[in-house]
Amino acid sequence: MISFRLNGLHVTVDRDDGSLLDVLRDEFGLHGAKDGCAPQGQCGCCTVWVDGDPRVACVTPVRRVADRSIETIEGLDSEWAQRWSIAFCATGATQCGFCTPGIVMRLEGLRRRGDLADEAAVGRALAAHLCRCTGWRPIFDAASSVAGGADTDRPERDLEAAGRRATLEGGAPQRVSPAVALGRGGFSADTAPEGSVIAMLDANGEWVTSETMVELRVRSRRVQGRRTTLAPSVPLEIPAPSRAGEWAIELATTWVEPGYLECDAAWCEPGGSPSTTLANGGAFGAKIDSPVIDAAARLAGELDRPVLALLTREDVVRLGPKRPPMAFGIRSDGTGVMRVARTAGIIEAVASVAPGIEVIEVDVLGPPTSCDLRGAGWIEAAIGVAAATGSDTITSPAGATASAAIHTDQRGHDGLMLAPSISVRVDCGEVLDAVTLRSACVGAAHQALGWVTSEGLTIDGHGEPVDLTIRSFGIVRPSDMALVDVELVESDRPAVNGSDAVLAAVGLAIWKHQGFPRSWPTGHPLGSVEQSEETS
Ligand code: FES
Ligand code: FES
Repeated sequence: MISFRLNGLHVTVDRDDGSLLDVLRDEFGLHGAKDGCAPQGQCGCCTVWVDGDPRVACVTPVRRVADRSIETIEGLDSEWAQRWSIAFCATGATQCGFCTPGIVMRLEGLRRRGDLADEAAVGRALAAHLCRCTGWRPIFDAASSVAGGADTDRPERDLEAAGRRATLEGGAPQRVSPAVALGRGGFSADTAPEGSVIAMLDANGEWVTSETMVELRVRSRRVQGRRTTLAPSVPLEIPAPSRAGEWAIELATTWVEPGYLECDAAWCEPGGSPSTTLANGGAFGAKIDSPVIDAAARLAGELDRPVLALLTREDVVRLGPKRPPMAFGIRSDGTGVMRVARTAGIIEAVASVAPGIEVIEVDVLGPPTSCDLRGAGWIEAAIGVAAATGSDTITSPAGATASAAIHTDQRGHDGLMLAPSISVRVDCGEVLDAVTLRSACVGAAHQALGWVTSEGLTIDGHGEPVDLTIRSFGIVRPSDMALVDVELVESDRPAVNGSDAVLAAVGLAIWKHQGFPRSWPTGHPLGSVEQSEETS
């Protein structure tokens, strides 16, 4: 028996094994703390307070909290919960919202210590977290807004229009609301019917079930994988030119993990339809065919009970689709040859923006790849053609146009060097909601920065990913994220997705800034003017 204080109440649980996160969710139905990587302890989504200090609950054994005081986002003082949720909504600091409750708990801890107005302290605090959607800058804005005593009224915005813009950018239904910041995005792992059996994959890849996560983690006998020290490599050779100097631009890429924070989850009642894996955002196209959908439906029928099927972070890396690796050479007239890991739909995706590129599909030993992932195929082709023809503008198949520039040599009024910044211009039809669109564009710039400079998965000789932790994907940390200035072009045209064009435009601008190295990730952070020896 373990006793502790939980959100001000004395509670007792009749077990001393398992993590604090699993006990909070299993025994107390508190779903504000999320599981983005348990038991890796690397994403910060499960952050709660233990005796007033932020702690990641997934690596905190419940026995360690005996006689201590635990606070979760559900127990946050209502005035401050309101201030934070409104600030996050008003600044676009929450999109899917999966990472947000943990970040709010961390930042509220900072506020109580009186350090919230210090941007460097905010950056250090955020280092314990990952957010894949917002590109960090809106989160800094939310912290600054709370530190400055911003108004606690609900934002005077059309949140329905904001939701339409968020849905266009995310590629799946997404709502914009202060409640999302408090963990109420409606994720499947939080909304399964009470009494659901929980299912996860065991070490042999078979589904096993249990009544609680604590027992399930024991029954699945999973030994967590790690990250490798080996760098990712490019699996495909750039097509040989038929004559020297034929290619104006060359590039080879590797497998890239979509890196969404909410691990796949779906629940189903016997005879019913499975819940969506895309609860409040599209996971960049990655969860459309998730194995949890069929598993939840099948097991619910077999057990005649509602079943919640989940993937762990490691399962997501092993089983989920990646951005396909490719290698291309493109002439100065925009024609060329692209070799790409065989991926359904890739030929059509490339042809949609670059009909002069011949696509050769190659069977490559490696994890599954998918064209469902954010612009996979067309974005690489569009970047390649723009680089080869000397253009700075990307037009997406949806009809959005975007351009971007990198600034690493600007000085402030005091003569000191300013932090690197990215300026972005995007025209994607009716803006609908500037805050939401700007946040999506900053998030896309963040993803582009990682994609070009630091993101990639190492794959072993059997085609298996060996970067199995969420920190091994190379997602850019808050302290390494550039400032982003987004110019939204007002337009009467119907609204279309704009952030995918921004992802492409910023990727192009960073690649150009670094001298067009022949492979990604370049390994050079933004601001480094050092160029690869391989620069073409
Ligand atoms: S779920 Fe605990 S740190 Fe990721
Ligand atoms: S809002 Fe941070 S991961 Fe989606």
